[in-house]
Amino acid sequence: MRLERKDLYSVAVVGATGAVGREMLDTLGRRGFPVGTLRAFASERSAGRELEWGGGRVVVVEDLAEADLSGVDLALFSAGGSTSKEWAPRFVEAGAIVVDNSSAWRMDEGVPLVVPEVNAEALDGHAGIIANPNCSTIQMVVALKPIHDAAGIERVVVSTYQSASGAGQQGIDELMGDVDAYLSGDDSEVTRAKFAHPLAFDVVPHIDVFVEGGYTREELKMLHETRKIMGAPGLDVSATCVRVPVVRGHSESITLDLGAELTGEAARALLADAPGVTLVDDPERAGYPLARMSEGEDAVFVGRVRQDLNRPRTLHLWVVSDNLLKGAALNAVQIAEALVSRASQGAK
Ligand code: A2P
Repeated sequence: MRLERKDLYSVAVVGATGAVGREMLDTLGRRGFPVGTLRAFASERSAGRELEWGGGRVVVVEDLAEADLSGVDLALFSAGGSTSKEWAPRFVEAGAIVVDNSSAWRMDEGVPLVVPEVNAEALDGHAGIIANPNCSTIQMVVALKPIHDAAGIERVVVSTYQSASGAGQQGIDELMGDVDAYLSGDDSEVTRAKFAHPLAFDVVPHIDVFVEGGYTREELKMLHETRKIMGAPGLDVSATCVRVPVVRGHSESITLDLGAELTGEAARALLADAPGVTLVDDPERAGYPLARMSEGEDAVFVGRVRQDLNRPRTLHLWVVSDNLLKGAALNAVQIAEALVSRASQGAK
């Protein structure tokens, strides 16, 4: 299946009222994506709501359940796994190509899992659905790619510091409610839906559900998705995923065991030239990536790059990015841009 070459495309955003959906609308406008018609879908709760996008234009939200899907060329989904499972095939049936931000299709054979800086070529093999990886995985593989190409990564140990917005708008609201409750000493208004414990002034080593061997599903996503995107089925990846009281921007401490020695200086040179990466590594002047620095930015910020003191084939990195942008909406729009560019080159 391929995207037809057109000057302007009919684009749908499914989950348009959510934390990621709103960024998808904004990113399409901001990057000048060739949108002819924009359709915004959400649940019946939001039908009729007006959303702004792309320099003051307004789109009216449609109830997905009542939708006429005909004529949509590209659909960007961020409405949760069960909505994707049910609706992505219907959009494909109606002639659209779907870029899905949920985990519903990511590990399916025949569904490319794409970070354009790393494996854009995987787009050649799609059958209508393309999966956007997990936010923590996206920012990690962008940083890993140049190191892997130069020195062969054999093992990744990563600890994440993931913001509340990774759990969507409800996650942000729950953090704010937890902060109010902490400061007022009154937690009677808090509804605990997204986090296992109050997130205000604490860190919680528990994202998604515990599944296997003491790991959570989020941690296993980082293993399986990294292997698939990097085309490295034997790569060892061990993750500890932690929720922190940050609204927006995921941080990661990453340790890499390499096939060859790599100095910090050599690694910095590789990262400085890598697509999608902004190197911020001036520790003497307190120069390193921060979640707040990443907010609203497209880049994956990398700093604290250093060779291990005891193991010359081990490298340490600190990697930060806006989870709603490169971790979700931006990567999805970049996939759509890559499809458009392939359509205009006449490739699949
Ligand atoms: P709605 O706002 O109408 O509930 P977030 O990840 O920030 O929680 O956002 C989830 C997005 O997915 C929202 O836009 C939400 O719409 C949408 N959504 C959730 N469930 C459905 C559904 N069953 N059908 C369509 N959209 C849905």
